Amino acid sequence: MEFHLVVKPLTSHACDALAVGLHEPASKLDGPVAALDRALDRGLQQVLSEEGFTGRLGRTVVVHTHGRVAPRRIIVVGLGPERGRSAETVRTAAAAATRRAVEMRLRHLAFAPLPEREARLRLLTQARVEGVVLGAYRFERYRSEPVQALARVDLLLADRSQQKAAERGLAEGRLFADATVLARDLTNEPANVLTPTRLAERAAEVGKEAGLRVTALGPGGLSRLGMNALLAVARGSAEEPRLIVMDYTPASPRRTVAIVGKGLTFDSGGLDLKRSEDMATMKEDMAGAAAVLGVMSAVAKTVKTIRVVGIAAAVENMPGPAAMKPGDIVKAMNGKTIEITNTDAEGRLVLADALAYAAGQRVNEIIDIATLTGGARIALGLHAAAILGTDPRLVEALRQAGEEAGERLWPLPLYEEFSEAMKSKVADLRNSASRWGSPEKGAAFLKEFTGGKPWAHLDIAPVAFVDLEEGAGPYRPQGSATGFGVRTLLTYLRRLDRPS
Ligand code: BES
Ligand code: MN
Ligand code: ZN
Repeated sequence: MEFHLVVKPLTSHACDALAVGLHEPASKLDGPVAALDRALDRGLQQVLSEEGFTGRLGRTVVVHTHGRVAPRRIIVVGLGPERGRSAETVRTAAAAATRRAVEMRLRHLAFAPLPEREARLRLLTQARVEGVVLGAYRFERYRSEPVQALARVDLLLADRSQQKAAERGLAEGRLFADATVLARDLTNEPANVLTPTRLAERAAEVGKEAGLRVTALGPGGLSRLGMNALLAVARGSAEEPRLIVMDYTPASPRRTVAIVGKGLTFDSGGLDLKRSEDMATMKEDMAGAAAVLGVMSAVAKTVKTIRVVGIAAAVENMPGPAAMKPGDIVKAMNGKTIEITNTDAEGRLVLADALAYAAGQRVNEIIDIATLTGGARIALGLHAAAILGTDPRLVEALRQAGEEAGERLWPLPLYEEFSEAMKSKVADLRNSASRWGSPEKGAAFLKEFTGGKPWAHLDIAPVAFVDLEEGAGPYRPQGSATGFGVRTLLTYLRRLDRPS
C-alpha cells in the first residue's frame, strides 16, 4: 500500500472513494463537506438523513457520486463529538472508513484534509496513517484468494503550509504501523510454521534490515548460563528453545532500556494440559516476543540517544516424554530455586531467566511484555492490558504512552502479600498459587528476577489476540493478533529520547 500527500480540492480528486469525517451531531454540513454536498445537488445530506447518520464514531455511510464529482464514492465516517477529539478518534475513524473500502474491494482511497496545523497535524496524520494500515490489515498469507486490494491512499492537504507536518506524520505513522503489522503477522503465523528456531531466524532478518546486532542462544548456550527455568519449559517439546537478543546501540547513548517478550510459540499447558477451548488460540502466546521484534524493527528510526536491548524468549510448552512435572524443582539463572507447581504457569519460568539475563546487562530499566495470565482477562475484560511494576515513573510514563498510542494500560497492585503467596515450602519460590489475583501473583514472581532494576510488566493476555467479536474494533479484526504494545513502547521510547 502506498501513500501520497496531495494538495487538491475534494471535488476534483479522482479516486474510488473519498473519506470525509463528520462530527456528532451531524445535523448540518459545513466547510469543504458542504461544498461537496452542493456539487452533489444536496445528495450527501439527503442520504445521511435517510440513513439516520448521527456522526457516531466509526459509523460509515457510502454515497455514489455518478460522475458529478471526481471521486466515484464518498465514504462519510462519524467522528463522534467534536470536543475531545483525540489521536485515537482519528485513528478509529480512518480505520472504519478503510475497512469499508476494503470490504468493497476498492483499490484507491483518499482522505479529506485534517483542519489542523504543525505539531497537532503531525500527530493526527500519524494516527490517521496507523488507522488506515491497521484497518486494512488481514492475515491472508495462506488464502488462495486474498480480499485486501487497497493499493493507494491519498491524504489530501488544505494547502502547501500543511506539507511539512503531514510528511513527518505520514513517515511516523507508516513506521509505527508497519512495526505493528510485523508483530501481527508473526503472532498470526501458526505454531507449526513459527517455531522458536524460525522466530530467531526472523529476528536475524529484521535485525539485518534495521541495522541491529542480533544473537540467539540455543540449548547449549542457555545451559551454560544456567537458564534452567526456561529449559525446564522447553524439555517437553521437540522444538529447541532460543533466547533472542536484539541490540540497538546508537553513537553515545544516555540510557539503556531492556524490553523482554514472552515467546511461547505454543502453550499447550504442558502436563497440566489446557482444555481444548483454552488451547485453541495458544499460538498467540508469543505476542510479547512479536511485539519486541516489532519495536526493534523501528527503533533505529525512532530514537537516537537511547540504547534498546530487545530480548525474546522463544520456547514451546508441550507435554512430551521429557516434560517438566509438577513438583520438579529448578534453579534459575539468578540462583533462585523454583518449585514447579503448575506446568501451565510456564511464561513466568521462561521470563524468570530472560529477566535475570536482562538485569545482568548494563541496563537502566526493564520492561517486559507477556500474555501471562487468563486472570488479566477476567479482571479487565478485553479492552485494556494490565500494567504492574516497581517504578511509579516508568509505569505512569508507559500508561501515558499507551493513551497516545490508543492502547489502554490499567494498573494492578503489587502488594507484598502477593510475593508472600509465591513462596514455596521446599524451594525459594513456587510458580503458581491459588487462582485469586493471578496477574498480581505472576508479576510478584517475575519481580524476583529483575535484580532490583526499575521494572514494569505489561500483561497483554486480554488484548493480544481478538478471539471474540466483543474484543474487536475498527483496527482490531476478529480472529487476528493486534500487535498490542508495539506502538506504546515506540511512543514511550520516542518520549524518552526527545522529551517534549
Ligand atoms: N498463556 C497463558 C495465559 C493466557 C490465557 C494468555 C489466555 C492469553 C489468553 C498462560 O501461560 C497461562 O496458562 N496462565 C495460567 C496461569 C496459572 C496456571 C497460574 C492462567 O492464566 O490460567
Ligand atoms: Mn500457560
Ligand atoms: Zn502461556
